[in-house]
Parts: sequence; structure tokens; C-alpha cells
Amino acid sequence: MIMRPAVTLSVAVGTFLAALQPLAAQSSRGNAESGRLYSVNWCTECHSVEPETAGIGRFAPDFSAVAKSPSTSASGLKAFLRSEHIHMPSYALKPAEVDDIVSYILSLRRK
Ligand code: HEC
Repeated sequence: MIMRPAVTLSVAVGTFLAALQPLAAQSSRGNAESGRLYSVNWCTECHSVEPETAGIGRFAPDFSAVAKSPSTSASGLKAFLRSEHIHMPSYALKPAEVDDIVSYILSLRRK
């Protein structure tokens, strides 16, 4: 009976990993929650990245305003984030990080 807890545990881990599968599959289209974390960590120096803080960005546009601009599109944001900018540091973001951030910015449209 000593094995019992271990078996139960491995079943629990298996179930947990199975539950994570949809999340992994989603990452190719961008995960808005990790995009939010990247944005909070990397972009708040200049941008307000969350609707709650709109208006406190230093000189760069608020992400919620970017999201709501009619000219904003996923492909436009991706192109912007993959290219170099005079006023923005070059982050050399990985494609998955760009997808996550774009997914996050676009999620602000609904807020
Ligand atoms: C050092 C300041 C600074 C940092 C840090 C910064 N930005 Fe910016 N960003 C700017 C400025 C200034 C602009 C507007 C001028 C421009 O387009 O170059 C801008 C513009 C943008 C735009 C275009 C907005 C529009 O009107 O379409 C996006 C998208 C953007 N930033 C995303 C990001 C993301 C994502 C990060 C973090 C990974 C980031 N920025 C970090 C300064 C910054």
C-alpha cells in the first residue's frame, strides 16, 4: 500500500499536464496573460500598459489607447514590435513574446 500515494500522485500530475495542453496549443496565437506580464515588466517605464493606469504613461501612448485606435491591427503591432524604433529600446523580442504582447494589447479593446 506504500505505492498507493505515488500512483495517485502520478495520475494527478497526468491530469494536470493534460489540462495544460490547451494552454500550450494557444501560445502560438499569443497568450494575453503572459503578454500582460511582459508588458508590466518591460514597457511601463514609458507606457501605461493597463487600463487602470491609463494616463500615467510618460510620453508614450497608453496601451489601452493603442488597442482602441481603429488603425491598430495584430499584423501592424507585430511589425512594429519586430522593427527598430528611435524612441523605444530594441528588445529583440522572441516571436512568441511578440504574439503574447500583441494578444494582450488587443485584449484591452474589450475593456
Ligand atoms: C524608453 C521608452 C519606451 C519603452 C520602454 C517602450 N516604449 Fe513603446 N513607444 C515609446 C514611444 C515614445 C512611442 C511613440 C513614438 C514611436 O512610435 O516611436 C512608442 C510606441 C509604441 C507602440 C505604437 C503605438 C501606436 O500608436 O501604434 C507600441 C505598440 C509600443 N510602443 C509597444 C511597446 C512595448 C510592447 C514595449 C515593451 C516591450 C514598449 N513599447 C516599451 C516608448 C517606449
